[in-house]
Amino acid sequence: MTNRRTELKLIPYIGCKAGFAEIFDKIIPDDAGHIYDIFGGGGGFTFYACNRFGSKNVTYNDHNPTMVNLMRALQKRPKELYDEYQRHSSKSGPEYYLAVREENLDDGTRGAGRFFYLAKNAFSGKIRFNSSNKFNTPMRKSPRCPQVDKDELLRLSDLMQDLKITDKGFEHYAGTRGGLMYLDPPYMNNTNSHYNATIPPADFAAFVSEIRKHSKVVISEQNNLESIGIPGFNQRLVRLQRSLQYFTQRDSTEVIAFNYEVEGLPG
Ligand SMILES: C[S@@+](CC[C@H](N)C(=O)[O-])C[C@H]1O[C@@H](n2cnc3c(N)ncnc32)[C@H](O)[C@@H]1O
Repeated sequence: MTNRRTELKLIPYIGCKAGFAEIFDKIIPDDAGHIYDIFGGGGGFTFYACNRFGSKNVTYNDHNPTMVNLMRALQKRPKELYDEYQRHSSKSGPEYYLAVREENLDDGTRGAGRFFYLAKNAFSGKIRFNSSNKFNTPMRKSPRCPQVDKDELLRLSDLMQDLKITDKGFEHYAGTRGGLMYLDPPYMNNTNSHYNATIPPADFAAFVSEIRKHSKVVISEQNNLESIGIPGFNQRLVRLQRSLQYFTQRDSTEVIAFNYEVEGLPG
């Protein structure tokens, strides 16, 4: 039997959590209720949650319209998304890649197909947007496009048929009551930006102090949470797999923190 979890990834994405399934298995209880992936990014955590809990019990959110548009296309029009990828692949080359980068990436299946092609062919898989949300990663060295397995793409789409997808800023979810909120924001106090925005730690801490009263909260961060104004969480250091490392990262660990007790977890 193939291990479904190794397939649960769409594109390379900085901070992708596709390799964290075993850690989530230990930390997230079976009766967590509705799961909210507030900084959903490339969907690594969302795919994990859909696979384990069923997509009707999961919400994906990210404020980047390009990423959200790709998730919507994968959900609603996976065959067309695949066809678009094949169309771009057949014409691919350095000039073609740069030309596609200038086109609209946010609109419908055509936009999603362009971003899918760019993301799969980005240099070192380092998806990066500037502060105007313009995708600006150069092309990978190899001229050959990575192949996309159509069946795997369709299976990933099947997995997320009842997923709720939103494109809000994280504050939109401040009033959430119940369930489990997974927060994987851009690393705080880290100047090497890959996303279209950074988040002031004080705003993030205020958000957490509100939602922790009503929901289970799990946070992935580079810093110890006390240092960014969030006291009282259980915390564990997680060693990142090589492929998940940010190349400018100071070390290869990050913190995973949660506001509830987990039985049998080593200290
Ligand atoms: C570390 S990445 C998430 C990676 C994701 N867990 C995965 O497995 O691919 C952080 C995400 O937060 C998003 N983001 C940044 N600021 C945000 C905001 N104010 N509201 C919602 N999302 C935001 C970025 O667009 C980025 O996709």
